[in-house]
Amino acid sequence: MLKTAYRPEQINACGIPLHDADDIAAMRRACALAARTLDMLADHVREGVTTLQLDALCETFMRDHGAVPATIGYRGYRHASCISVNHVVTHGIPTDRQVLRPGDILNVDVSPLLDGWHGDSSRMYVVGECSDTARRLIDTTHAAMMAGIAVVRPGGRMGDIGAAVMKAALAGPYGVVREFIGHGIGRVFHAPPEVHHVARAGTGERMEPGMIFTVEPMLTIGKPLVRILPDGWTVVTRDRSLSAQFEHTVLVTADGHEILTL
Ligand code: MF3
Ligand code: CO
Repeated sequence: MLKTAYRPEQINACGIPLHDADDIAAMRRACALAARTLDMLADHVREGVTTLQLDALCETFMRDHGAVPATIGYRGYRHASCISVNHVVTHGIPTDRQVLRPGDILNVDVSPLLDGWHGDSSRMYVVGECSDTARRLIDTTHAAMMAGIAVVRPGGRMGDIGAAVMKAALAGPYGVVREFIGHGIGRVFHAPPEVHHVARAGTGERMEPGMIFTVEPMLTIGKPLVRILPDGWTVVTRDRSLSAQFEHTVLVTADGHEILTL
């Protein structure tokens, strides 16, 4: 029989879903599609392209592979991706008014819904060549995400992730945005647990095999203080300093973790 929901015994005492082998197989497919979508985009990010054109490429690719972009209709959001350029931290809205220029840095975030399961990943792209300052921010943000993922294992605590991200961000030193966090994901787009990118090691829920969540830190060159524009979505740095973000969806395995969106 087709399963369409978690069984009650799959939800742990903290309300966190624990995915079984079938669930994980389905999540591998949704997450692989997120990764393939971001791979596909790399050839299309160039001077003169609009963020709306990149969004259309994401939407077509996801639909051609049997998925629906989970962001369309999510809390009134209308696009297949979020595209956040330069000082836009996250949730940038694709538009035909934003024409990419040499040196721009941008995050593209996609969330395909495939056969009832959500994948979620984002990466940074550079238009032509960027400044050394921007390059170092991007590289450190990726390293911070990977440092957060590296501590994911059964028996670890959710706060271990934010502690590792913060420590990696000190290499800047860069700010780490607190207002937007990673999340459990699976049948539901945004589920428990919360994944804070600023946290204390040894605090928070205990990680268990079968948990799936995102790690998606946002780092800033200046102060990590953000503002939401009147469109209700676009998050920018208050001081207009550059920001970068990467996101992977991660499974807790019996002896560590597996990155599902590689
Ligand atoms: N992919 C984003 C995340 O990481 C989703 C943002 S919701 C949207 O959770 F509606 F803005 F797309
Ligand atoms: Co996410």
